[in-house]
Amino acid sequence: MCSSKFFNYLLVIALLLLYQHATAEDSQDGFHGDERDTLLALKEGFNNSFLDGNWTGIQCYMNSTPNWYGIRCINGRVTGVSLENMGLVGKIKPDALVNLAELSILSFKNNSIHGNLMEFSYNPKLKKIYLSGNRFDGEIPSSLLGLNFLESLQLQENNLAGSIPGFNQSSLREFNVSYNNLSGKIPDTRILQSIGLSSFVGNQDLCGAPTPTACSSLNDSSDPPNSNKKNPFFSSTLVVVDVIVLVVLLIFFIIYYKKYKNLKKRMKRRNSVQVDEEKRDAITNNSMENSVPAGEEDRGKLVFFDKNGTHFELEDLLKASAEGLGKGNFGNCYKAMLEIGPAVVVKRLRDLKPLSSDEFVKYVHAIADKKHPNLFPPLAYYYSKDEKLLLYKYASNGNLYNRIHGERGTRDRVQFGWRSRLSVARGIARALEYLHLTIRSQTIAPHGNVKSSNVLLDENDEVLVTDYGLISLIALPIAAQRMVSYKSPEYQGFKKVSKKSDVWSYGCLLLELLTGRIATHSAPQEANGLDLCSWVNRAVREEWTAEIFDVEIAAQRSANHGMVRLMQIAMKCCEKSPEKRPEMAEVLREVEAIKVVVDSEDEEDLSLDQSITDDSLSASTPSMLIADERR
Ligand SMILES: *[C@@H]1O[C@H](CO)[C@@H](O)[C@H](O)[C@H]1NC(C)=O
Ligand SMILES: *[C@@H]1O[C@H](CO)[C@@H](O)[C@H](O)[C@H]1NC(C)=O
Ligand SMILES: *[C@@H]1O[C@H](CO)[C@@H](O)[C@H](O)[C@H]1NC(C)=O
Ligand SMILES: *[C@@H]1O[C@H](CO)[C@@H](O)[C@H](O)[C@H]1NC(C)=O
Ligand SMILES: *[C@@H]1O[C@H](CO)[C@@H](O)[C@H](O)[C@H]1NC(C)=O
Ligand SMILES: *[C@@H]1O[C@H](CO)[C@@H](O)[C@H](O)[C@H]1NC(C)=O
Ligand SMILES: *[C@@H]1O[C@H](CO)[C@@H](O)[C@H](O)[C@H]1NC(C)=O
Repeated sequence: MCSSKFFNYLLVIALLLLYQHATAEDSQDGFHGDERDTLLALKEGFNNSFLDGNWTGIQCYMNSTPNWYGIRCINGRVTGVSLENMGLVGKIKPDALVNLAELSILSFKNNSIHGNLMEFSYNPKLKKIYLSGNRFDGEIPSSLLGLNFLESLQLQENNLAGSIPGFNQSSLREFNVSYNNLSGKIPDTRILQSIGLSSFVGNQDLCGAPTPTACSSLNDSSDPPNSNKKNPFFSSTLVVVDVIVLVVLLIFFIIYYKKYKNLKKRMKRRNSVQVDEEKRDAITNNSMENSVPAGEEDRGKLVFFDKNGTHFELEDLLKASAEGLGKGNFGNCYKAMLEIGPAVVVKRLRDLKPLSSDEFVKYVHAIADKKHPNLFPPLAYYYSKDEKLLLYKYASNGNLYNRIHGERGTRDRVQFGWRSRLSVARGIARALEYLHLTIRSQTIAPHGNVKSSNVLLDENDEVLVTDYGLISLIALPIAAQRMVSYKSPEYQGFKKVSKKSDVWSYGCLLLELLTGRIATHSAPQEANGLDLCSWVNRAVREEWTAEIFDVEIAAQRSANHGMVRLMQIAMKCCEKSPEKRPEMAEVLREVEAIKVVVDSEDEEDLSLDQSITDDSLSASTPSMLIADERR
């Protein structure tokens, strides 16, 4: 029995590895957040106002024309970065090209970038590198020798020093290092010797063929050619992968061994003091223990999506003290304080569709694979016959619902100004646009449950949208009762949801953000809501202008224009007919285009200037809103 069980573990590992590989392949045509992060970091370094305005949103999607200047893409992967003649300044970081594994063309021709050349081992497919006409210094990195497809390397007119490495890739056709500060012997490789002299001129101390200067013996021995070096990146990653697999196997073996011992102990114990366990269950009221069935036989495993992040075992979770976070939509939520590591939120999933464990795993992986700075992915899942859990990090600043409505009229209320609200509106729109781009189904709403209590705020008040994708897990009758998409006019009318249902939910959320009033369909049980869309429509028609906006922001006069603009966008999103609503990408563009114009005094004087005059708004508001409505 022992060996067959161990064999099962091995099988599971093998399957997991296969699965991981398969999903990695799958995501090739999807969106690559890591590549985006790399490009954004690159942009930060350049401090270029054009790029700052242009490199926003998603860099490229599938095979459509990239939105970002100078970026080329194939199948959603970045294959080219070409920023020439732009007057870029700044220092390049060694890992500037990390994650760009498909990169084939790189050009920073004719700028003013300085610093050592970057590391190229992340980009094994590079064919063309044009870095001429900058202020790069330091040595030519040997990682260039590992680029087996390199066709053209242009480094002329920089300030590179040291000797030339022994380039010997047979693919290399063009090579130019003229006008640098290179020295030493030009390596005696077939490729370098076939390149003409004009590629080497303008360096202080180069010698040997093809230059006319012979090297002194001292020069000759100073730099042994290192053309035999293998690509250090590949060999080292292979070793690392091997080690990781070994360690994982070892860990599994240890866990298995411990469990086996435990089981043996328990069997013994069970025979003697069977009552003990039942008692313990009854006593430990404030721990998770009694909320998760402890049926040893079908107890599953806690599976972490990020293999390198924090890990713990189900046992640790059971030992942790827990605090109820109230009844969620699809089962209760707990906050568990682990003895080691951060607090986590445990979401018990109830009322699921009848799913096999494989289907469940596939769905939760699809959820966890969505990577965007404004999405809050689960950390881990747990699956057994009787219990399905999703684990999340604990977001310290709570949710948007509490931020908008919490502690109103008390001393503890923290003002929630226009600038912060606009930034929240943007964050949510970015997250939704990303979900809409990456989930292509026509028949489900990619998020499905957009509402303020599903928008968390991290310690910097950055938006983290959560609860997305559960629409494919939850049984329809329950989902129809509890998920916001199913409250949309089209579901009420035609029993259909789509991407546009998310747009509608987003519009309602914007109205909540702007008016500070609670919407019926997303209100928690204890709160009374308002049909916000009709209320706002009525308010606009009947010109209760001053009453529309939350008093907390209405006083920020210089921002009134932006508020009106956001209100118009919200009302377009709330259109009854899905066809009339804009796509999420368009919504995002419009929300991003709203300018933050808030004088610092405005924010300060908030408490003093609560009295907003009707004139200030009626001059602009109703006509603009109504004009838009008529279209
Ligand atoms: C970025 O450029 C602007 C002018 O274009 C300059 O004022 C600012 O100091 C620069 N910032 C950094 C970090 O270099
Ligand atoms: C970036 O610039 C290019 C070319 O100027 C343009 O086609 C593209 O739409 C811009 N993208 C954004 C997001 O502004
Ligand atoms: C180099 O870039 C600058 C802009 O930074 C441009 O004015 C100049 O014409 C470019 N030179 C060449 C040779 O393209
Ligand atoms: C050229 O490189 C040498 C070191 O090899 C350095 O001492 C010198 O300052 C460099 N010259 C310039 C102009 O950067
Ligand atoms: C360069 O590579 C060729 C084969 O690709 C090999 O025959 C030759 O010896 C190498 N030369 C040097 C100097 O490494
Ligand atoms: C190398 O670059 C220099 C300076 O830009 C240029 O004059 C020369 O023609 C180039 N050589 C080749 C082979 O491209
Ligand atoms: C290498 O040889 C050149 C030409 O003979 C000479 O000018 C230079 O000083 C030598 N450099 C070193 C580092 O020995």
